[in-house]
Amino acid sequence: METIFSGIQPSGSLTLGNYLGAMKQFVNLQSAYNCYFCIVDEHAITVPQDRLKLRENIRSLAALYLASGINHEEATLFIQSEVPAHTQLGWIMQTQCYIGELERMTQFKDKSNGKEAVSSALLTYPPLMAADILLYNANLVPVGNDQKQHLELTRDLAERFNRKYNDIFTIPNIKVPDVGARIMSLQDPTRKMSKSDDNQKATVYMLDEPKRIEKKIKSAVTDSEGIIRFDPEEKPGISNLMTILASCTNQTLNQVELNYQGVGYGPFKQDVANAVIEVLTPIQERYHDMINSQALDDILDHGAEKANLVANRTLAKAKKAIGLGRVKK
Ligand code: TYM
Repeated sequence: METIFSGIQPSGSLTLGNYLGAMKQFVNLQSAYNCYFCIVDEHAITVPQDRLKLRENIRSLAALYLASGINHEEATLFIQSEVPAHTQLGWIMQTQCYIGELERMTQFKDKSNGKEAVSSALLTYPPLMAADILLYNANLVPVGNDQKQHLELTRDLAERFNRKYNDIFTIPNIKVPDVGARIMSLQDPTRKMSKSDDNQKATVYMLDEPKRIEKKIKSAVTDSEGIIRFDPEEKPGISNLMTILASCTNQTLNQVELNYQGVGYGPFKQDVANAVIEVLTPIQERYHDMINSQALDDILDHGAEKANLVANRTLAKAKKAIGLGRVKK
């Protein structure tokens, strides 16, 4: 059975973009692969975090993974900082990575743009992400579109390491969903929907109440053409809502376009809101059952135990290949 690894940062409240771009794929793929799903808290601290809020977000993300349908008996769910091999291999991968490669990353450019104090960890984030994936010999990494560049660098670093030292790492492939790989902001549909958007109306959060979801979708920016057709260049707002509807109802964009011929934006938006609410309500119910449970801690303990076992094995191979430590006499 092939292996999947993917991670989500506990850097804020999870969005509909995270769900449709990443989590939904995880749930669909989990029974066909040996899966590792990670709460990448060490990535989250590359930008300033409030310690209590971070703690809360870590637990909340764990509960959301399970509430979204991750089955802990099939998949390994764990917290990155509970598996020290991640930062250890992350350091080794930094030695294989050039500063120029890191400076070219769009995520680094976006997140550091206009900031006075930018942590060096924000720059060296991709080698840690490479380590996350390579420790588990992942064949496939399901993510949204915005992680493509990081995945390409991961492949380059793994190939570079394998060529120089020994064939230690599996070269991972990326998987983005056919529909929903890039959900856009509801207020500026030329920008990605993001956990960290200051405008609350731009983002549907996975834990938003139905009334709020409805309000946000009804006030989404569209255009004045009055025709529902998929054209991300000319009609980014409507195309984004079509994508959300298609993904939530498991239809193609073509089907959505056909179904909404001659329908006005008002009823269309209502259907989009209903579809999102229908997907998120059962997840929210399971989330509230899970968030304060002992079962959640047991699952994370068990996940960390299993992840440590596998990760330490790969780390030992990489250390040996590169010449770290000693051979005992
Ligand atoms: P993060 O936490 O920003 O996002 C988690 C996942 O959600 C996807 N995503 C989206 N998909 C569609 N539309 C959107 N608007 C949208 N916003 C976010 C992301 O593509 C991602 O799949 N660097 C990663 C975390 C990470 C990781 C890894 C991922 C660390 N190590 C190893 C995969 C493998 C990140 O910041 O994701």
